[in-house]
Amino acid sequence: MKRKIIFDCDPGLDDALALLLAVAQRDWDILGVTTIAGNSLIEYTTQNALDLLAYYGRPDIPVAKGSSNPILGRFASGSHVHGSKGIANIELPKAKREIEKLRAHEWIAQTLMASTEKIMIIATGPLTNVGMAISLYPEILDKIEMISLMGGSVHVGNVGAVMEANTKNDPEATHIVFNAGVKIAMFGLNVTYQTVIYPYEMDEIAQLGKFGALAADCLRYHFKNYQDLPYFEGDPSHDSCAVAYLIQPELFTMENLNVVVDLSGSYSRGQTIVDQHRVTGRPLNAWVALASNREGFVALIKDAVQCLNQA
Ligand code: BDR
Ligand code: CA
Repeated sequence: MKRKIIFDCDPGLDDALALLLAVAQRDWDILGVTTIAGNSLIEYTTQNALDLLAYYGRPDIPVAKGSSNPILGRFASGSHVHGSKGIANIELPKAKREIEKLRAHEWIAQTLMASTEKIMIIATGPLTNVGMAISLYPEILDKIEMISLMGGSVHVGNVGAVMEANTKNDPEATHIVFNAGVKIAMFGLNVTYQTVIYPYEMDEIAQLGKFGALAADCLRYHFKNYQDLPYFEGDPSHDSCAVAYLIQPELFTMENLNVVVDLSGSYSRGQTIVDQHRVTGRPLNAWVALASNREGFVALIKDAVQCLNQA
C-alpha cells in the first residue's frame, strides 16, 4: 500500500528540492500540497508549488492555498534568501490550473477526516496551516501518522541568535503542533547545517538532465546566502532533510526529547528549547534529529533526480 502524504510548504528554493525528492518516491501517494507564506508572499509560494509540480510531471496533485499571515502578527519575508518571488530568478512555465476551493488548513482537516488510513504530514514552512487545522479540528489528530518538519534548532539560529525562520515566523502554531500529542520528527538547523551539499556535488547534480539542472540551480542560488560565511562549505538544503528521513530513516540519528517554543522572550520569541539532557522532566514530545549521514543524503537526492529523469 502506498504511503499517504500531505506536503505543507513555502517554496522556496530548498522547498523546491524537497518537493522533487517527495515526488520522485513512486511508493508515495501525495494527496496534496498546501502552501504557506514565509519565504515569499502566499501568491508566489502557491504559484511556485503549482509550477514545480507541473515541471515534475505531477500537475494532478491538488494544491490548496494557505495563510498569508501567522496566527499572531505578520510573517517576516525570506525574500532576501529566496528572492522576491521565492525561487530566485528561476523561470518555470506557468501552470494555469485551479487551486482547491478550501483554504489549506480546512483542506488538511477535511482530507484527514475523510481518510481511512493514517496520513504523514511533511511541513517545511511556518506551521500556521498545520497548527490551525489541529486547533480548529482536534479530531484529526488520530489520523496523523507523524509530522516530519523542518523547523527550530537545538541551539543555533538563522533569524536571531537562537531562532530559526519557520518557528520564529509562527511561534503560536509551533506551540500548538508540539503540544498536540502527535508524533513529530524535527529537523532543525543543528542538523540541516551538517547536511550540506558541496559545490562539486552541485556540479555533478547539474549534469543529471533537466531535473538535475533545476535542482542544481536551487542549490546554487540558496548557497549564495552561505558561501561567504566561514563555517559553510556547502549548501544546507534544510527542507529535504524532513523528506529524506521518511525515505531512509537510518540517515539520521534521532532522539526522543522534550521541545517547547518560547512565546514570550524578548530576545528569543520563536526559539525551540530542546531539553537535550532531559533535565526538565517534561514529557518527551518530539524525535529530534541530532546527526546525519551527509553522503547518504546526497546520494538520495541524486537517486531522486535520476528517478524523475526516467519517468
Ligand atoms: C527554513 O526557512 C526557510 O527559509 C527555508 O525554506 C527552510 O524551511 C530554514 O530556516
Ligand atoms: Ca521552507
